[in-house]
Amino acid sequence: MKIAVMASGSGSNFQAILDEGIKVDLLISNQKQAYAIQRAQANGVPTHLLKKTESLLEVLTRYQIDLVVLAGYLKQIEMDVIKAYPKRIINIHPSLLPKYGGKGFYGIKVHQAVLQAQESESGATVHYVDEQLDTGPIILQEKCSVYHTDTPESLQQRVLQIEHRLLPLAIKKIVEGENQ
Ligand code: GRF
Repeated sequence: MKIAVMASGSGSNFQAILDEGIKVDLLISNQKQAYAIQRAQANGVPTHLLKKTESLLEVLTRYQIDLVVLAGYLKQIEMDVIKAYPKRIINIHPSLLPKYGGKGFYGIKVHQAVLQAQESESGATVHYVDEQLDTGPIILQEKCSVYHTDTPESLQQRVLQIEHRLLPLAIKKIVEGENQ
């Protein structure tokens, strides 16, 4: 299975995938300053900087990608790609979906909303990407506590630790399922 990871920022989830020994065939980013690109170069993973006018589907086809992993990719995936890759695109989200998902819930905003609502728990979710934002079938989900003393940043860090464990696990689950 040829795997592409897509990341717009730091790429700590991408790093977690590499650290688990999962072979990543391509790192795609839409941001040339993304630290994820440096991580790819340091680990011998080919990179592709996606231009605004470029077709993602064309790139994925050219590299013969089977599985697309969205790891902090801050742009919605076009419908032609979603249709061409049913149950072949996964995303990591820093909340217990379906809570705190959809439009406007990204990055620190998710954790701010969780604290605002005085939730006692939060967590991370890996799900398949379908036609709508953050609604596809859930693959794995893991919870953590939310404390009275939490700031959005401290909660973000706790959830990120879960993400780093959960995303490689979900990929392994899919790859193993494929090989059965
Ligand atoms: C993570 O919180 C992920 O859930 C969200 O974007 C963030 C990416 O972080 N989709 P990183 O670039 O992997 O460090």
